[in-house]
Amino acid sequence: EGNIVMPGFVDCHTHLVFAGSREEEFEQRIEGAGYMEIEKKGGGILSTVEATRTASKKELLSLAKRRLDYALSCGTTTMEVKSGYGLRTEDEIKILEVIKELNVSHPITLIPTFLGAHQFPKEMTRDQYIDCILREMIPQVKGLAKFCDVFCEQGVFTKEESRKILLKGKEYGLIPKIHADEIKESGASELAGGIGAISADHLNYPSEKGLQLMKDNNTIAVFLPGTCLFLGHKPPVRKVIEMDIPVAIGSDFNPGSSPLLSMPIIISLACVLLNMTPAEAISAATINAAHAIGLGEKIGSLETGKDADIIILDIKDHRELPYWFGHNIIKMVIKKGAIVYS
Ligand code: NIG
Ligand code: FE
Repeated sequence: EGNIVMPGFVDCHTHLVFAGSREEEFEQRIEGAGYMEIEKKGGGILSTVEATRTASKKELLSLAKRRLDYALSCGTTTMEVKSGYGLRTEDEIKILEVIKELNVSHPITLIPTFLGAHQFPKEMTRDQYIDCILREMIPQVKGLAKFCDVFCEQGVFTKEESRKILLKGKEYGLIPKIHADEIKESGASELAGGIGAISADHLNYPSEKGLQLMKDNNTIAVFLPGTCLFLGHKPPVRKVIEMDIPVAIGSDFNPGSSPLLSMPIIISLACVLLNMTPAEAISAATINAAHAIGLGEKIGSLETGKDADIIILDIKDHRELPYWFGHNIIKMVIKKGAIVYS
């Protein structure tokens, strides 16, 4: 019928499973408070940790399911989901089990990432928590996660702590990913390249050396335009593309820095805020995003032998996708050959 047919969106970076919301911090930031300032006062991630620890598995399942239904209606057919709002072994496992259950019951394929190193919990010292991640959490989440991620940032996990955690994860078969240089340059992009991470995400302030190491080690740069919108960052996307580093984009859906789940909106923002062309942003949200979660041979493009994860859009030209900002142009979603939304 003259519509655009393309691969389903791959959202390669989300924090889908959490309870509560943080609209009061949203207002505080509008009034001038910084993201890290709120974090240091014990708000931020820790306030979502409290709400998520209190929530039952059933509550988390129902919250996440509604979000997945919405993401599906926006054309997402595969999504990476991180733990990280438990910060206690049983609660990190609770979140990973919710992801596992939803992966069976929901049409969207979910790829789980262990992010125990998202923040330090109140009840332990720094060293105690690192020890808990290394000795207790990683061995126990081994079969529940594919990737191990760390929030490597000034005031959160240092480069050396992050290295230890990611190397331990590797020992247990977890592939490294990094929240890298989001708020300040922290040596995280260097660590990502040096350790052979599959992706370095955020990269608002990467060092020259870090980008070079990423290029040399095939680390994918994942930019998160929703967070850029909400926190006001402008990562050096053009420079990274000129260096020939593969670029992916994701929603970073989370209650603090990016309450955004619609990949068409993320693609629009990649164009408008980060100066990506529509074609670059679409590749970044499909095939490159698939590679950022290790599934580049299976999904992310329409090719013989790949999963039939296909979306049909109510537009005639691919450039209309980012252009009609906020319109729901998704007409039909097909997952592994079956119509799952229309
Ligand atoms: O990717 N920076 C760390 N994690 C999330 C934010 C989490 C939160 O604020 O709850 C991010 O931006
Ligand atoms: Fe994130």
